[in-house]
Parts: sequence; structure tokens; C-alpha cells
Amino acid sequence: MAKIGLATHGLARENPRFPGQAMIRVRNLSKSYTVHKKAPGLWGSIRSLVARQKVVKHAVRGVDLDVGEGEILGLVGPNGAGKTTLVKMLAGIIHPSGGEAQVLGHTPWERNNEFRRQIALIMGQKAQLWWDLPAADGFLLLKEIYRIPDDRYAANLAYLAEVLDVEQHLNVQVRRLSLGERMKMELIAALLHEPRVVFLDEPTIGLDLTAQRAIRDFLLAYREEHRPAMILTSHYMEDIQRLCKRIVIIDDGRFLYDGPLDQVAQAYAGQKVITVHLRRGDGSPPPAEALAAFGDVLTAGEDEVQLCVPRERVAEASAYLLAELPVADLSIDEEDIGTIIERIFRERRVEGA
Ligand SMILES: Nc1ncnc2c1ncn2[C@@H]1O[C@H](COP(=O)(O)OP(=O)(O)OP(=O)(O)O)[C@@H](O)[C@H]1O
Ligand SMILES: [Mg+2]
Repeated sequence: MAKIGLATHGLARENPRFPGQAMIRVRNLSKSYTVHKKAPGLWGSIRSLVARQKVVKHAVRGVDLDVGEGEILGLVGPNGAGKTTLVKMLAGIIHPSGGEAQVLGHTPWERNNEFRRQIALIMGQKAQLWWDLPAADGFLLLKEIYRIPDDRYAANLAYLAEVLDVEQHLNVQVRRLSLGERMKMELIAALLHEPRVVFLDEPTIGLDLTAQRAIRDFLLAYREEHRPAMILTSHYMEDIQRLCKRIVIIDDGRFLYDGPLDQVAQAYAGQKVITVHLRRGDGSPPPAEALAAFGDVLTAGEDEVQLCVPRERVAEASAYLLAELPVADLSIDEEDIGTIIERIFRERRVEGA
């Protein structure tokens, strides 16, 4: 594990891709939160009135990053890894504890107008539009706030509403929209002023597959037209795979990997996934222990068994499954990137334990 983390970490620092022209530049950026802990129960509450115990959480630990024009960088990591904290610092919402960042030549947390006019932050978990207004009215307010010229505003709104297929919902109060419709309105709100740097923190969370796909296609189209630098976090690997050529893997505030997405797969694709579909009613699946002897058991149900197996054991495992189970069909596939990344995190947990 350390191999890939250490070997590629220098990539960010040397900045080989965008010498002198990164739109986002981050150096040794850190953020620690201080939280006051109390012991559980009533006594804990009373004691905490007298002596509060301070605990420092290092959410982001000295990271370096460069993102260039037209690039969508995928930021991937488990819950609590520091993704939102990093994005909030770069969008200027919170101050760092140390280090530097430049976004379009500005220090984000100084939040000067020039900076604010050129960036957008979209958070799937947090609504930014006014709930009691129809989206169309909210957009008009944003037009004034950002001083968007009439012709650009009309053209952008028409384009965004059409591509995202929400024209018929523009005059409905935001609170009455479905989650997917609202998210599309949030995207429009964030992009009306044609930002050159866009931060997307889980923009497709909770959306159905059609809406997720619409948002992905839309982001690709926006990228082609405006060539912004984007940072995208998502727990959906489909988002990352469709949108990002380069990813950063973050865990516990540190970057484990910064480089091409396909190289993560190559470096870790030591495994294959065997899927067998079973004929119904022909007995129960074999005990999980027997399957686990070959590798990770991803599924072990009455209809389907799925194993992630080291390459050299694929033949042996397939032979076992064919002999022992009522196999209707069997397929052997490369592990998908989501499974690979999950495995990286799991192995780290075990190593660290
Ligand atoms: N305002 C805060 N005060 C104290 N601790 C915080 C605060 N915000 C975040 N943290 C802590 O910092 C760490 C990183 O949180 P962050 O929200 O950046 O994670 P994340 O990678 O975005 O996770 P997720 O995938 O769940 O969204 C977590 O341990 C979290 O509990
Ligand atoms: Mg988050």
C-alpha cells in the first residue's frame, strides 16, 4: 500500500501537468478542528462545565494539489476522510490551520469579490437556493448578486434548463420540487455566472440513476464549453469513472494517491471477480467459509455468488464453483474501480490495526 502512496505523492508537488498555469494550487494545506468532548451521562455534563476536555481533529494534513483548466479532479475517500473540509477551504468558506492555496490567483478565504464571481460551490447535502421562492425568482436574485448581463443570463438559463430538462419546473416553489429536480436547480444556480472553478461535493447524492446520468452528461458538456477547473467528490464510482481522468485518494486527511484513474486500477488489479448465477431451487449455496478460502466473498445468495479472487487462483476457484454449485452461468471480470478503492481502504485499516 505504501508503495503507491509514496511513489506518486510527489506528482502533485512537481506539478508536471500544468507548469505555471494551474487554476487551483494548494501547498501544505491543513485544517484541524478543536472539539470539546464530554464524558457520557449526567456526571459527564456536570464535569464538562468545570473542565472541558479538548480534542483536536486533524481533518486535512498538509496536502499539495494542482488542478488545471478543463480538468475534473475526482476526490475519493471514505466518510470523514477530509474531502468536504478541503473543498470548503478552497471555496473560501473556512480558514485553514496552515499552508497556502491559490484559486485563480486569489487566496480563497479572503473571499474578495473577484474570487467569488469566478467560483461555484455545489453541495449535494446542502440547499443554497431559497426554499420559498420558485427557482426562477432565485435565479433572478443571483443575476443581480453576480451582475450577470441580461443577454448572458437569458442564454445561460435557457441552455441550462433545457439540458437538465427542468424548464417546466422553473416556476414551482423550490420546496415542492423532488430531490433530483432541486439538485438540477442548484446546479443551474451555481453555474449561471459561468464560474471558471467549480467545486462539487457529492452533487448526485440520493438521485436516481437517470438523474445521476443527466447531471454527469451535463457536467461533461459544461466542461467542454467553459473549460473550468473542477473538483468533484462522490461516493458513486460511476461519477468518478465517467467524469475524472485523474483522482486523488484521501484517507484520514492525507493523500494516498494522486494520478491517473486508470493507473490505480492497473496497480491494484491483482484480482478478478467471478460471478456465478445459480439455478433456482437446486439447493443452498455452499458455506461462506468454503468460498472465503479463495478470496473475498462479495455476494453469497441463493441466486448469485460473487467472489473477488487473486488472479492466480481464478482457475481453481472457477473449477470449485462449477463442481459444487448448480451453476447456470459463470463470468470472470476485472474488478471495478470502486471495489479496488474499497479494498485499498480495507487493507489500510488492517495494516494500521
Ligand atoms: N465543524 C467541524 N468540527 C469538528 N470536526 C469536524 C467538523 N467538520 C468536520 N469535522 C471532522 O473532520 C473530519 C473530516 O470531515 P469531512 O466532512 O471533511 O469528511 P468527508 O471526507 O467529507 O466525509 P464524508 O464522505 O462523510 O462526507 C471528520 O472526522 C469530521 O468529523
Ligand atoms: Mg463530505
